[in-house]
Amino acid sequence: MLANPLVSKCLQARDMAYCPYSRFPVGAAILTADGAIITGCNVENASYGLTVCAERTAIQRAVVEGHRRFTAIAVTCDIKDSFVGPCGACRQVLMEFGSDWTVYLTKPDGSYKETSLSELLPLAFSPAHLGKN
Ligand code: THU
Repeated sequence: MLANPLVSKCLQARDMAYCPYSRFPVGAAILTADGAIITGCNVENASYGLTVCAERTAIQRAVVEGHRRFTAIAVTCDIKDSFVGPCGACRQVLMEFGSDWTVYLTKPDGSYKETSLSELLPLAFSPAHLGKN
């Protein structure tokens, strides 16, 4: 187990990716406010636009399992030489559940860069703007 268990879990989740079209596996692991870890991987589709990213797979699993308060997410892919962030759509989906996320951008060797959702998605649109929070 690596130092940060969330990091280990996102690496394990990446190994489950269903990505026959892109051959670009992605893994995510979310830490809930009560300490549970929920994982996700990208799930592609022959109708390419139906692909769901790893981060969103994890969020959807978490919500189904009754979690709505989160503190951190670790994400990883196979790129070895740089730290890769979640796509813009996934940043917005994370923002739905608050701006206070720590984000661990993880390389395949388990090294990671710690950042935050606020840093990745500044001046965000959020549920607060709809008066629903
Ligand atoms: N992908 C993710 O799972 N998360 C991201 O943040 C970026 C992209 C997936 C979608 C697709 O299966 C593959 O990576 C290539 O875009």
